[in-house]
Amino acid sequence: MSDVHVYPVKPEIAAHAHINRETYQALYQRSLAEPEAFWAEQAERFLNWDRRWDRVSDYDFETANIRWFEGGRLNVSVNCLDRHLETRGDQVAIIWEGDDPAQDKKLTYRELYDQVCRFANVLKAQGVEKGDRVCIYLPMIMEAAVAMLACTRIGAVHSVVFGGFSAEALKDRILDCGCKYLVCADEGYRGGKVVPIKANVDKAAEHCPLLEKIIVVQNSGGKIAWQEGRDLWYHEAMAAASADCPPVPMDAEDPLFILYTSGSTGKPKGMLHTTGGYLLYAAITHKYVFDYQDGDIYWCTADIGWVTGHSYVIYGPLCNGATTLMFEGIPTYPGPDRFWRVVDKHKVNIFYTAPTAIRALMAQGDHYVTETSRQSLRILGSVGEPINPEAWEWYYHVVGDGSRPIMDTWWQTETGGILITPLPGAIDLKPGSATLPFFGIKPEILDANNQILEGECEGVLVIARSWPGQSRGIYGDHQLFIDTYFSKAPGFYYSGDGAKRDADGYYWITGRIDDVINVSGHRMGTAEIESALVLHELVAEAAVVGYPHHIKGQGIYAYVTLNAGVEPSEQLRKELDDLVRKEIGPIAHPDIIQWAPSLPKTRSGKIMRRILRKVAAGELDNLGDTSTLADPSVVQNIIDHRIVKT
Ligand code: WT7
Repeated sequence: MSDVHVYPVKPEIAAHAHINRETYQALYQRSLAEPEAFWAEQAERFLNWDRRWDRVSDYDFETANIRWFEGGRLNVSVNCLDRHLETRGDQVAIIWEGDDPAQDKKLTYRELYDQVCRFANVLKAQGVEKGDRVCIYLPMIMEAAVAMLACTRIGAVHSVVFGGFSAEALKDRILDCGCKYLVCADEGYRGGKVVPIKANVDKAAEHCPLLEKIIVVQNSGGKIAWQEGRDLWYHEAMAAASADCPPVPMDAEDPLFILYTSGSTGKPKGMLHTTGGYLLYAAITHKYVFDYQDGDIYWCTADIGWVTGHSYVIYGPLCNGATTLMFEGIPTYPGPDRFWRVVDKHKVNIFYTAPTAIRALMAQGDHYVTETSRQSLRILGSVGEPINPEAWEWYYHVVGDGSRPIMDTWWQTETGGILITPLPGAIDLKPGSATLPFFGIKPEILDANNQILEGECEGVLVIARSWPGQSRGIYGDHQLFIDTYFSKAPGFYYSGDGAKRDADGYYWITGRIDDVINVSGHRMGTAEIESALVLHELVAEAAVVGYPHHIKGQGIYAYVTLNAGVEPSEQLRKELDDLVRKEIGPIAHPDIIQWAPSLPKTRSGKIMRRILRKVAAGELDNLGDTSTLADPSVVQNIIDHRIVKT
């Protein structure tokens, strides 16, 4: 990696940044040498507590029992709202930019506080109590933020389900954590198209007998089905609700939210995050990674259905008293200049998006960018997958005019917040590298025998100690939590990502090493897609792998074996595509379906995915050892019928 170009910290940024080279080094050293003192100080600086904690941290990576600030009491909505009222009650908390560029709205901290209190009272009136799970299935509208914060005010645990997930996927998530309450909209908008939200809820609800109340935001005004006694309008309930709602003080370790994410098993896992540690970690990373300064307009383009939307659209920014922008639409509607038009319209200073969006916009041509001013921008960010150096350079030179540093932030749903990242005033950049660990984070790279590698190396990325934002469990399955993250490399948090470390100690994430693929920054378990495909009565077997895709990062390649005597057809291909869309959602639909009379298997019957991955990637002269295959001729057939599409 000696030919890598280094982009040094810009003096004009370092001069005003919260953290510069010296403070990064000093604070990082201290965060590892005296973690208890370091995190106690941060917890005091970043959060308001009703009761101080008894113990800063207490964790055991063998039993996967992780606790931070135990005995401490606080309320998330108080930290995100009440405490800002005196100093910034009239400051804009949320700027909402609609899918339709003519639509936008702003809410001040005081207005947001008022709505959150009202909605918390609405939830209470419907019977929601502390600890109850509330499902939130909404488009990117203000009410989504209101609903999340209202849950935190009364100690309800939210489970946000991405509005693009299907009725089936929604049903699974409602059932898994036993939601009795759901907040949705009539319909949503995305890229000028209408998304049927309530219709999906109605379908899911048929199989969710525990679901008692559905609160519906009137967003499109479109016609929807209605079940009297179960369904109620958000606006009607809000109009009748009091704006006075005392917050419920929560234990630092009380559950805050559950968020589902894909793993190597066929079923999404409900990652559980708790109150004190999560909020502190979201807030401190938001402030330092993006060098958030008072008055900045901050925009993270993620949907609240993903962890990025939780930590860096809602909780981190609001906890810090920031102005955060919520965008309902997509990067290419009405045109590929939308992001930059929004940046100019709202004078955005900090812009955080995903490599897939950058690549998609890069493919449209520079003029969509260069026609806009973007003068307000100071810091850029990237998240979701490794950013390829070509996309990084384009983001830097074309979007950022060569003068805004890019924060390539590595983290996961499980980590709650950013773990490996540059800091604008402190860390020199290398395109494609997430650079160095954040305070308190001790990454290690292990070899195949779980031995710690030193210096320049490549292996599996693990984290050697706990940090406040770490997930506390998988809802309803602690053993799976242990097995997935703590047993594979005992003593460490196992990330599931591969990584290299270079001579400067910089980390380069190489991607997942398990059967998880990353499609447009969204994690998909190949097993989940396979389970959907084999639901079709004519399908005998399916194997799904990722392959390099120029926009999505990875595309979805499905090898499908049909039942004996069944002829493949375009009609069947479409049925399978529709089936995956229905079972999971459009994001999971296969880019390629190849008919395979049989799949390459070992003599013990295990599918050799390594070979399927190589064929899908076109690495045909490099298939590796095929001697353990039960029937080597299967591979030739698969190669002969390979479909090429990038
Ligand atoms: C997986 C986590 C973290 C919020 C969005 C995705 C990949 C994420 C980066 C990055 C390289 C990255 C990893 C990780 N990933 N950010 N900056 N560089 N890879 O959250 O759905 O939980 O996915 O996304 O493979 O394990 P997620």
